[in-house]
Amino acid sequence: MGSQTNPPGPSSKTLLSLIPGSFQNPAEFLLDLKREYGDITCLRLGIKNVYLIGSAEYAEDILETRQEEFSNWVAWFIKSADILQGEGLLATESEGHTARRSLVEPAFVRENIRKYGAVITSYGVRQRELWSDGQPSDMEKDMGRLTLGIALKILFDLDMDTDGKEIGDIMDKLLFHYSAVFPPVLLAQPLLRHIPHNNVRGLIKEKNEISKIIYGIIGERRTDSTDRGDLLSSMIAARSENEELSEMTDTQIMDECISMLLAGHDPVAKALTWTWYLLSQNPEAEQRIHDELDTVLGGGIPGLPDMDRLPYTESVFREAMRLYPPVWMIIRQSLGEFELGGYSTPKGSLFLVSPYILQRDPRYYPAPLSFKPERWKGRDESSGLSYFPFGGGRRICTGESMSWIQGVLLIAVIAQRWSFGLDPGHVVEPKPQITLGTKHGVTMVPRKRVL
Ligand code: HEM
Repeated sequence: MGSQTNPPGPSSKTLLSLIPGSFQNPAEFLLDLKREYGDITCLRLGIKNVYLIGSAEYAEDILETRQEEFSNWVAWFIKSADILQGEGLLATESEGHTARRSLVEPAFVRENIRKYGAVITSYGVRQRELWSDGQPSDMEKDMGRLTLGIALKILFDLDMDTDGKEIGDIMDKLLFHYSAVFPPVLLAQPLLRHIPHNNVRGLIKEKNEISKIIYGIIGERRTDSTDRGDLLSSMIAARSENEELSEMTDTQIMDECISMLLAGHDPVAKALTWTWYLLSQNPEAEQRIHDELDTVLGGGIPGLPDMDRLPYTESVFREAMRLYPPVWMIIRQSLGEFELGGYSTPKGSLFLVSPYILQRDPRYYPAPLSFKPERWKGRDESSGLSYFPFGGGRRICTGESMSWIQGVLLIAVIAQRWSFGLDPGHVVEPKPQITLGTKHGVTMVPRKRVL
């Protein structure tokens, strides 16, 4: 039996006084609460109890071991707000999720996505021709355009500079509005679509525009069934044993496409942006990555077979996602009473499980705030979820393998030619929204490497 006493946490009055400041950087605000209150903190927000999880064991309980006892709050929100991805994986609740996932998942198994390695490096090569020596550039924007271009190619076989330009431009706007309604999103919940706010109107308008275009593309593909080798062809061809959902309908494919465009390119862009920033602050790590690339690749363009030969490059990407996990917060809602750490929590409580918080815990990572890619060499996995930038359990990211390939190959192909220094005077400030971006971008000065 769990005790009736609530876990520790700030009083409602203290919390209310802290909330305005918390919007500056909610991730750091929650990290401070965790440092003060420990493995489980109770935050009373109105009638809802919200629990902040501060231990890897509890995170594992919620996301994996006892996942059936929770719904995905974000999926519920997106569906109730009815503004995005009505039926895509991101917005599908418990029932229907497994069937939908079994249709989509085969397209993402490692063997199937291997064919995209060449697309990724060719886009990386194209990007590295765009910078000029000594000319400052906002890496957050650059990485956003680069990964959106890759997503359009992989998903629809479209080129962002030509036939995919329209979708690319709409996606830029959609993402802007989507991010801007967060965190108000957390407060407004399903009423969001009725709020007469520019970003809400913008979000709905762009969503409608992009849906029209994507329906058009699906229609064309249904009439000409040639396999174009992209994810859209895989989804149209997908079949499952499930009687109720043996193949994907146009609406499901459309929703999946928007989910993937939204969920797929932005986190990779953020992970890469933070990687360049961290390398600029850690010259020794940058030197080691350059040494590895020069020795292993000898100036040649990297390909998938090289990935296993670039362990340091991979650990740089891994360490960047430890310190700055692009999806910094995962939220679950309990379906019934739930006991955790000796406390009994009521049905309908929200549980905040944050990779940002647990991946900065000194119990799991000595000198947690230092960027040390070498810490991953021969590391024994501790128990519980202490590293989970891609989530856990049955809702673990479908794009995880694809993200590792993109991360390592893009870092390799770009760092081969360029070194980036932070523009003097530019201050990088994290801005945790749906993904972990920055307030003013990351202006960096590219320097061509002398080989
Ligand atoms: C560095 C890159 C990425 C990171 C850090 C990331 C992170 C995550 C996380 C943490 C979740 C779980 C959210 C939850 O449990 O509530 C998730 C789900 C998801 N991700 Fe990713 N992601 C990345 C890239 C991608 C890519 C490249 C794609 C697609 C091409 C993708 C598609 C999805 C989808 C569809 C889901 C929902 C899965 C489900 O609910 O069954 N992600 N991602």
